[in-house]
Amino acid sequence: GLEIASLLGRTGKVTLDTGFVNTASCTSAITYIDGEAGILRYRGYPIDQLAERSSFLEVAYLLIYGELPSEAELGDFVDRIKEHTLLREEMRRFFDGFPRDAHPMAVLSSGVSALSTFYQDSLDPFDTAQVEISTVRLLAKLPTIAAHSYKNSIGHPTLYPDNSLSYVENFLRMTFGLPTTPYEVDPVHARVLDMLFVLHADHEQNCSTSTVRLVGSSQANLFASVSAGVNALFGPLHGGANEAVLTMLGRIQESGGDVSAFVRTVKDRTAGTRLMGFGHRVYRNYDPRATIVKQAAREVIDRMERPDPLLDIALQLEEIALSDEYFVERKLYPNVDFYTGLIYKAMGFPTRMFTVLFALGRLPGWIAQWREMMADPATKIGRPRQVYTGAGARDYRAIDKR
Ligand code: ACO
Repeated sequence: GLEIASLLGRTGKVTLDTGFVNTASCTSAITYIDGEAGILRYRGYPIDQLAERSSFLEVAYLLIYGELPSEAELGDFVDRIKEHTLLREEMRRFFDGFPRDAHPMAVLSSGVSALSTFYQDSLDPFDTAQVEISTVRLLAKLPTIAAHSYKNSIGHPTLYPDNSLSYVENFLRMTFGLPTTPYEVDPVHARVLDMLFVLHADHEQNCSTSTVRLVGSSQANLFASVSAGVNALFGPLHGGANEAVLTMLGRIQESGGDVSAFVRTVKDRTAGTRLMGFGHRVYRNYDPRATIVKQAAREVIDRMERPDPLLDIALQLEEIALSDEYFVERKLYPNVDFYTGLIYKAMGFPTRMFTVLFALGRLPGWIAQWREMMADPATKIGRPRQVYTGAGARDYRAIDKR
């Protein structure tokens, strides 16, 4: 039976809410979502306006500091980030130690965690100047670590950052460029990737952001908290979904492209197959980001010499699912990740880099949420209660008596 005492919290009651379906863990002034209406706003600004008219670093500034920057403020922010894009040589070397087939998300989280070892001058979560420099270092170095994790996986030499380029251009060059050949960044790829980063920049208390907050609530430093967030994002039900969507589309194609048969397998549920890229804990309507991503996918894929047949499979899947009772009843719509993988693939990223791209986009949100929590005097260490369902009290028995 349940130990009743363990059910009693300080108020005399404990609420069991597996998966935090109805429980808010904090107050926040950063991101607003209305899942029923399909609305997403950062600091009050609608996501479609930001995706169309803003840029990733401007949105990062907005999320972290609360207001859109003036031209001078943005210029200063961008310059400060450019000053810190290099990794220390010792840090560059330790990428060599990882096995070639390491998942780049595992390398990324290790790299972020290692920043605590190199920048011990900025680990105090309550020192404003230290938090500021950690913020800039993280934003500046994550693309360099991400590109290194990719180069490591293909056995190519790494490239130093080129600070004459924009944030996203620099990342694309470090990822796809070679030391001996000049690399021309495709301006459409740079623009679309910047926009995808904007779309991913924050999403209130999702699994990885809640993880960043929970770890930070113990007063762990920003690098430690964000590396935990990267690990939370790794899973297929969260950031790993973009990778899982492409694997799913590939399997459908390999088995003859019968989309209806696949949808039947999902509905049948005996195989435990989910339609990846569909459904969302909060959106019970079309994910507003998915609409924007779908348009971008068309734009990028239509420019390819040989358009990707997986796009057709995705479009068919969406059409069939949106008119199928199973999905309609459960309010399952495409989420942001249904089409992002196709875009990343068209840009030349291997599937295993997709979640890394999500992490690059989500970074400002993690930082903003961590800073908001640290600045709030009401913050307490996160410590959920439980409902105990194990054995009642019993006496220890010697090993020869069991
Ligand atoms: N395919 C088929 N059925 C689904 C799907 C899906 N993708 N998602 C939910 N369902 C069904 C469930 O089986 C359940 O049915 P039931 O009530 O008959 O048992 C019902 O819809 C509700 O699903 P839950 O799992 O309770 O919903 P929850 O809010 O816990 O899960 C989640 C949300 C994890 C996103 C889920 O929809 C899912 O697994 N989707 C696929 C993975 C994915 O795309 N993740 C990315 C999320 S977005 C992001 O991280 C950016």
